[in-house]
Amino acid sequence: MNSNKVKVNKIQLYQTNLDKIPIYLTRKLTMNSETIPLSAVIILSILSFFGAIKVLNVTYRLIGFFYRHFIRGNQNLYARYAGTQQAATWAVITGGTDGIGLQFAKDLACQGFSICILARNETKIISKLAEIKDVASKAGHVIQTAYEVVDFSKQYHIEDYAAIVQRLSSLDVGFLICNAGAAAVGDFTNLTNEQVERTLVADALQYVYLIKAMLPRLLLRESQRSGLLIVGSGLGSFPCCGWLALSIVKSLQSFLGQGLNYELRHKVDVTSFECGEVVTQTNNNPPNFFRCMPDVATKAALRDMGKDAVTCGTWRQEFRMWSRKTFMTINIQNKVFYDLSRDMFENKK
Ligand SMILES: NC(=O)c1ccc[n+]([C@@H]2O[C@H](COP(=O)([O-])OP(=O)(O)OC[C@H]3O[C@@H](n4cnc5c(N)ncnc54)[C@H](OP(=O)(O)O)[C@@H]3O)[C@@H](O)[C@H]2O)c1
Ligand SMILES: *[C@@H]1O[C@H](CO)[C@@H](O)[C@H](O)[C@H]1NC(C)=O
Ligand SMILES: *[C@@H]1O[C@H](CO)[C@@H](O)[C@H](O)[C@H]1NC(C)=O
Repeated sequence: MNSNKVKVNKIQLYQTNLDKIPIYLTRKLTMNSETIPLSAVIILSILSFFGAIKVLNVTYRLIGFFYRHFIRGNQNLYARYAGTQQAATWAVITGGTDGIGLQFAKDLACQGFSICILARNETKIISKLAEIKDVASKAGHVIQTAYEVVDFSKQYHIEDYAAIVQRLSSLDVGFLICNAGAAAVGDFTNLTNEQVERTLVADALQYVYLIKAMLPRLLLRESQRSGLLIVGSGLGSFPCCGWLALSIVKSLQSFLGQGLNYELRHKVDVTSFECGEVVTQTNNNPPNFFRCMPDVATKAALRDMGKDAVTCGTWRQEFRMWSRKTFMTINIQNKVFYDLSRDMFENKK
């Protein structure tokens, strides 16, 4: 009883003092400058210094945002990555038979790249390559196609990837897109061992080892530059409960891309695509304000390819990512995404 009373009094005390601050400042500021105490001047100067930095920072980012989404146009990546010889320049795309990967394959084929797909299902690869060739010819390009049947969740060693790259040695690869992956949703505790291993091997090892094996080739090419696009996810930009295995792998992919962006800047364009939601077989929901179709996502990513170390894709997806980072505390984030994962997990059953 007694202690409660003390607390109340303390709060009242703070409140009355807080109330007085604006009155004090107004009084001080409207009077002669000589009467402003030096300490207040110093504090105000420091605050305005940091305020100015923040304003400049926000302005710079806003200009970048508008430039990227509304001024920067599509690029001719074929012209940028083509070899100096007459031979075809190839884009190698892991998981190029479906969803985002398939759309990248179509977009690049329409620019003139010959397309090589690495995926699991041979029947599907052959039919999708025919589709890609068709789309390219409608855009006026006669392209070549090639493929390797690979299950990345079974390629455990860096030698396995070196062997894959070796089998592609006759192709002048000018553009590599690491994209293949599958999401495992649910509590980390509840994921099966097989799900965890598949995610780590197929998504993390694939990106690191395939890129490591392919890099010497990209660096030795007779060309102006080469391209490397890492298809990551917005889920890699924070520890995302409910998709934790995927989230840690995606953060690894993003770090790899951002680091290589700098290390290879003299010869290879490297961009990490922190993709937002896209309608595909793994995200089988109707499109909405934030969830776009694959062609919209890939167009935005190719626009930023080689220009930025990280891209979120469309302005809506970048805005969504920014608002999450800006307005959600870690606790809110955890709750929102965890609850969402529970719903999806329940729906899947
Ligand atoms: N969709 C989204 O909302 C979303 C959001 C953020 C990030 N992403 C990322 O975007 C990438 C592509 O996703 P998506 O939604 O387009 O997926 P998708 O439609 O399911 O397509 C996945 C592709 O990867 C291949 N693939 C999957 N597992 C493989 C394995 N173990 N070995 C070889 N190939 C394999 C599949 O080929 P087969 O048919 O032959 O197996 C297919 O071509 C992933 O890295 C994903 O994390 C997607
Ligand atoms: C491979 O792809 C074909 C065509 O899309 C499909 O009918 C078949 O079920 C797939 N095979 C496997 C093992 O997923
Ligand atoms: C694991 O999944 C079951 C339903 O399959 C659920 O009842 C349980 O709460 C989950 N465990 C954890 C730790 O979340």
